[in-house]
Amino acid sequence: MSRNRVPPGSDEEPTPTADQPSRRRFLQSAAAAATVGVAPHLHAQTQPAAPPAPASPAEVRAPEPPQPVTLNINGRAYALQLEPRVTLLDALREYAGLMGTKKGCDRGQCGACTVLVEGRRINSCLTLAVMHEGETITTVEGLASQGVLSPIQRAFIEHDAFQCGYCTPGQLCSATALLNEFNSGTASTVTADVRTRPPQLSDDEIRERMSGNICRCGAYANIVAAVRTVHDGNTGNA
Ligand code: FES
Ligand code: FES
Repeated sequence: MSRNRVPPGSDEEPTPTADQPSRRRFLQSAAAAATVGVAPHLHAQTQPAAPPAPASPAEVRAPEPPQPVTLNINGRAYALQLEPRVTLLDALREYAGLMGTKKGCDRGQCGACTVLVEGRRINSCLTLAVMHEGETITTVEGLASQGVLSPIQRAFIEHDAFQCGYCTPGQLCSATALLNEFNSGTASTVTADVRTRPPQLSDDEIRERMSGNICRCGAYANIVAAVRTVHDGNTGNA
Protein backbone atom coordinates (compact mmCIF):
# COMPACT_ATOMS: atom_id res chain seq x y z
CA MET A 1 0.00 0.00 0.00
CA SER A 2 1.20 3.45 -0.83
CA ARG A 3 2.20 5.52 2.06
CA ASN A 4 -0.09 8.38 0.95
CA ARG A 5 -3.34 6.37 0.65
CA VAL A 6 -5.85 6.30 3.53
CA PRO A 7 -8.97 4.14 3.88
CA PRO A 8 -12.03 5.80 2.43
CA GLY A 9 -14.30 7.38 5.05
CA SER A 10 -11.63 7.21 7.70
CA ASP A 11 -10.92 10.12 9.80
CA GLU A 12 -7.72 10.46 7.89
CA GLU A 13 -9.49 11.04 4.56
CA PRO A 14 -8.52 14.50 3.47
CA THR A 15 -11.30 17.05 3.42
CA PRO A 16 -12.13 18.02 -0.21
CA THR A 17 -11.52 21.52 -1.14
CA ALA A 18 -13.42 23.61 -3.72
CA ASP A 19 -10.94 22.82 -6.44
CA GLN A 20 -10.26 19.23 -5.36
CA PRO A 21 -13.54 17.23 -5.44
CA SER A 22 -13.39 13.89 -3.76
CA ARG A 23 -13.30 10.72 -5.82
CA ARG A 24 -16.70 9.77 -4.44
CA ARG A 25 -18.30 13.00 -5.55
CA PHE A 26 -16.74 12.63 -8.96
CA LEU A 27 -18.22 9.17 -9.36
CA GLN A 28 -21.62 10.36 -8.18
CA SER A 29 -21.60 13.17 -10.70
CA ALA A 30 -20.58 10.86 -13.53
CA ALA A 31 -23.35 8.38 -12.66
CA ALA A 32 -25.94 11.14 -12.62
CA ALA A 33 -24.81 12.41 -15.98
CA ALA A 34 -24.98 8.93 -17.47
CA THR A 35 -28.51 8.46 -16.18
CA VAL A 36 -29.64 11.69 -17.77
CA GLY A 37 -28.13 10.61 -21.09
CA VAL A 38 -29.71 7.16 -21.13
CA ALA A 39 -33.14 8.06 -19.83
CA PRO A 40 -34.59 9.41 -23.08
CA HIS A 41 -33.41 6.28 -24.91
CA LEU A 42 -35.09 3.98 -22.41
CA HIS A 43 -38.19 6.09 -22.59
CA ALA A 44 -38.27 5.79 -26.36
CA GLN A 45 -37.92 2.00 -26.18
CA THR A 46 -40.78 1.48 -23.78
CA GLN A 47 -43.27 3.85 -25.36
CA PRO A 48 -45.47 2.61 -28.22
CA ALA A 49 -44.92 4.20 -31.59
CA ALA A 50 -46.89 7.35 -32.03
CA PRO A 51 -49.94 6.79 -34.23
CA PRO A 52 -49.83 8.43 -37.65
CA ALA A 53 -51.27 11.84 -37.79
CA PRO A 54 -54.92 11.73 -38.84
CA ALA A 55 -55.52 12.61 -42.45
CA SER A 56 -56.90 16.01 -43.01
CA PRO A 57 -60.45 16.21 -44.37
CA ALA A 58 -59.02 17.26 -47.71
CA GLU A 59 -57.09 13.94 -47.98
CA VAL A 60 -60.03 11.64 -47.17
CA ARG A 61 -62.15 10.87 -50.19
CA ALA A 62 -65.36 9.01 -49.89
CA PRO A 63 -65.58 6.05 -52.31
CA GLU A 64 -67.36 6.83 -55.51
CA PRO A 65 -70.86 5.36 -55.47
CA PRO A 66 -71.78 2.63 -57.94
CA GLN A 67 -73.01 3.94 -61.22
CA PRO A 68 -74.95 2.29 -64.03
CA VAL A 69 -72.72 0.75 -66.67
CA THR A 70 -73.91 -1.31 -69.60
CA LEU A 71 -71.42 -3.79 -70.99
CA ASN A 72 -71.91 -5.61 -74.26
CA ILE A 73 -70.59 -9.08 -73.51
CA ASN A 74 -70.86 -11.96 -75.96
CA GLY A 75 -73.60 -10.20 -77.85
CA ARG A 76 -75.73 -9.47 -74.81
CA ALA A 77 -76.16 -6.22 -72.90
CA TYR A 78 -75.45 -6.43 -69.18
CA ALA A 79 -76.80 -3.51 -67.14
CA LEU A 80 -74.56 -3.38 -64.08
CA GLN A 81 -74.03 -1.09 -61.10
CA LEU A 82 -70.28 -0.65 -60.78
CA GLU A 83 -67.93 1.51 -58.80
CA PRO A 84 -65.52 3.24 -61.18
CA ARG A 85 -62.58 1.31 -59.73
CA VAL A 86 -63.98 -2.15 -60.59
CA THR A 87 -61.77 -3.91 -63.11
CA LEU A 88 -63.22 -5.49 -66.21
CA LEU A 89 -62.16 -8.89 -64.84
CA ASP A 90 -64.12 -8.40 -61.61
CA ALA A 91 -67.07 -6.99 -63.52
CA LEU A 92 -67.18 -10.11 -65.68
CA ARG A 93 -66.83 -12.57 -62.84
CA GLU A 94 -68.46 -10.92 -59.85
CA TYR A 95 -71.14 -8.76 -61.44
CA ALA A 96 -72.02 -10.35 -64.79
CA GLY A 97 -71.61 -13.88 -63.42
CA LEU A 98 -69.35 -14.99 -66.27
CA MET A 99 -66.83 -17.10 -64.41
CA GLY A 100 -65.06 -18.50 -67.46
CA THR A 101 -62.50 -15.71 -67.43
CA LYS A 102 -59.97 -16.59 -64.76
CA LYS A 103 -58.07 -14.49 -62.25
CA GLY A 104 -54.48 -15.64 -61.90
CA CYS A 105 -52.05 -12.96 -60.84
CA ASP A 106 -54.45 -9.97 -61.01
CA ARG A 107 -51.52 -7.81 -62.14
CA GLY A 108 -51.02 -8.41 -65.82
CA GLN A 109 -48.43 -11.15 -65.69
CA CYS A 110 -50.12 -14.46 -66.45
CA GLY A 111 -52.72 -13.88 -69.16
CA ALA A 112 -55.39 -16.01 -67.45
CA CYS A 113 -57.81 -13.07 -67.66
CA THR A 114 -57.40 -12.48 -71.40
CA VAL A 115 -60.57 -11.42 -73.19
CA LEU A 116 -61.28 -9.76 -76.51
CA VAL A 117 -62.39 -6.14 -76.67
CA GLU A 118 -63.30 -5.00 -80.17
CA GLY A 119 -61.49 -8.12 -81.36
CA ARG A 120 -58.23 -7.23 -79.62
CA ARG A 121 -56.91 -9.28 -76.73
CA ILE A 122 -56.36 -7.51 -73.45
CA ASN A 123 -55.69 -8.45 -69.85
CA SER A 124 -59.02 -7.70 -68.20
CA CYS A 125 -57.37 -7.36 -64.78
CA LEU A 126 -55.52 -4.27 -65.98
CA THR A 127 -58.43 -2.22 -67.21
CA LEU A 128 -61.50 -0.67 -65.63
CA ALA A 129 -64.93 -1.87 -66.66
CA VAL A 130 -66.33 1.64 -67.08
CA MET A 131 -63.78 2.25 -69.82
CA HIS A 132 -65.42 -0.35 -72.03
CA GLU A 133 -69.02 0.72 -72.06
CA GLY A 134 -70.24 0.60 -75.64
CA GLU A 135 -67.48 -1.75 -76.81
CA THR A 136 -67.82 -5.35 -77.89
CA ILE A 137 -66.43 -7.72 -75.29
CA THR A 138 -65.91 -11.41 -75.96
CA THR A 139 -65.06 -13.90 -73.25
CA VAL A 140 -64.42 -17.62 -73.52
CA GLU A 141 -68.15 -18.18 -73.13
CA GLY A 142 -68.66 -16.27 -76.36
CA LEU A 143 -66.23 -18.18 -78.56
CA ALA A 144 -68.66 -20.95 -79.35
CA SER A 145 -71.60 -20.14 -81.56
CA GLN A 146 -75.01 -21.69 -80.94
CA GLY A 147 -73.47 -24.59 -79.12
CA VAL A 148 -70.80 -25.24 -81.74
CA LEU A 149 -67.23 -24.91 -80.53
CA SER A 150 -64.92 -22.62 -82.45
CA PRO A 151 -62.08 -24.19 -84.48
CA ILE A 152 -59.49 -23.27 -81.84
CA GLN A 153 -61.62 -24.78 -79.08
CA ARG A 154 -61.91 -28.02 -81.02
CA ALA A 155 -58.19 -28.01 -81.74
CA PHE A 156 -57.36 -27.61 -78.05
CA ILE A 157 -59.44 -30.68 -77.31
CA GLU A 158 -57.99 -32.69 -80.20
CA HIS A 159 -54.41 -31.83 -79.21
CA ASP A 160 -54.90 -32.23 -75.48
CA ALA A 161 -53.70 -28.66 -75.06
CA PHE A 162 -54.64 -28.32 -71.42
CA GLN A 163 -54.36 -30.20 -68.17
CA CYS A 164 -55.92 -28.40 -65.21
CA GLY A 165 -57.58 -25.96 -67.61
CA TYR A 166 -57.14 -22.87 -65.47
CA CYS A 167 -55.19 -20.98 -68.11
CA THR A 168 -57.26 -22.33 -70.98
CA PRO A 169 -59.92 -19.58 -71.27
CA GLY A 170 -57.16 -17.00 -71.60
CA GLN A 171 -55.20 -19.22 -73.99
CA LEU A 172 -58.26 -19.67 -76.20
CA CYS A 173 -59.03 -15.95 -76.35
CA SER A 174 -55.38 -15.17 -76.99
CA ALA A 175 -55.09 -17.81 -79.73
CA THR A 176 -58.27 -16.52 -81.36
CA ALA A 177 -56.82 -13.03 -81.56
CA LEU A 178 -53.39 -14.35 -82.60
CA LEU A 179 -54.77 -16.04 -85.69
CA ASN A 180 -56.75 -12.97 -86.68
CA GLU A 181 -53.69 -10.75 -86.09
CA PHE A 182 -51.51 -12.96 -88.24
CA ASN A 183 -54.09 -13.20 -91.01
CA SER A 184 -54.31 -9.42 -91.08
CA GLY A 185 -50.53 -9.13 -91.47
CA THR A 186 -49.56 -7.95 -87.99
CA ALA A 187 -45.87 -8.57 -87.28
CA SER A 188 -44.38 -9.84 -84.05
CA THR A 189 -40.96 -9.37 -82.51
CA VAL A 190 -39.68 -12.55 -84.19
CA THR A 191 -40.91 -11.55 -87.64
CA ALA A 192 -37.78 -11.26 -89.79
CA ASP A 193 -38.98 -8.27 -91.81
CA VAL A 194 -41.70 -6.24 -90.14
CA ARG A 195 -42.30 -4.27 -93.34
CA THR A 196 -43.72 -7.30 -95.09
CA ARG A 197 -46.42 -9.71 -94.13
CA PRO A 198 -44.94 -12.71 -92.26
CA PRO A 199 -44.69 -15.51 -94.84
CA GLN A 200 -45.83 -18.25 -92.50
CA LEU A 201 -46.91 -18.80 -88.96
CA SER A 202 -43.88 -20.64 -87.64
CA ASP A 203 -43.73 -22.29 -84.24
CA ASP A 204 -41.48 -19.44 -83.12
CA GLU A 205 -44.17 -17.00 -84.20
CA ILE A 206 -46.82 -18.91 -82.27
CA ARG A 207 -44.65 -19.15 -79.15
CA GLU A 208 -43.82 -15.47 -79.27
CA ARG A 209 -47.39 -14.39 -79.90
CA MET A 210 -48.66 -16.61 -77.08
CA SER A 211 -45.89 -15.64 -74.68
CA GLY A 212 -48.23 -13.48 -72.60
CA ASN A 213 -50.19 -16.54 -71.53
CA ILE A 214 -48.56 -18.65 -68.86
CA CYS A 215 -49.46 -22.31 -68.43
CA ARG A 216 -48.36 -23.69 -65.11
CA CYS A 217 -49.07 -27.22 -66.31
CA GLY A 218 -46.62 -26.77 -69.16
CA ALA A 219 -48.98 -27.67 -71.98
CA TYR A 220 -47.10 -25.37 -74.33
CA ALA A 221 -46.14 -27.93 -76.97
CA ASN A 222 -49.74 -29.01 -77.43
CA ILE A 223 -51.00 -25.43 -77.42
CA VAL A 224 -48.60 -24.61 -80.26
CA ALA A 225 -49.79 -27.71 -82.12
CA ALA A 226 -53.43 -26.67 -81.70
CA VAL A 227 -52.81 -23.17 -83.00
CA ARG A 228 -50.82 -24.53 -85.90
CA THR A 229 -53.60 -26.94 -86.81
CA VAL A 230 -56.18 -24.18 -87.02
CA HIS A 231 -53.85 -21.97 -89.02
CA ASP A 232 -52.86 -24.72 -91.42
CA GLY A 233 -56.52 -25.59 -91.85
CA ASN A 234 -56.95 -22.21 -93.45
CA THR A 235 -60.14 -21.65 -91.58
CA GLY A 236 -59.74 -17.91 -92.08
CA ASN A 237 -60.56 -17.26 -88.46
CA ALA A 238 -60.20 -19.00 -85.16
S1 FES B 1 -54.98 -12.26 -63.92
FE1 FES B 1 -54.72 -10.77 -65.44
S2 FES B 1 -52.76 -11.16 -66.26
FE2 FES B 1 -52.92 -12.54 -64.59
S1 FES C 1 -53.55 -26.23 -68.24
FE1 FES C 1 -53.10 -25.92 -66.15
S2 FES C 1 -52.25 -23.94 -66.12
FE2 FES C 1 -52.45 -24.36 -68.21
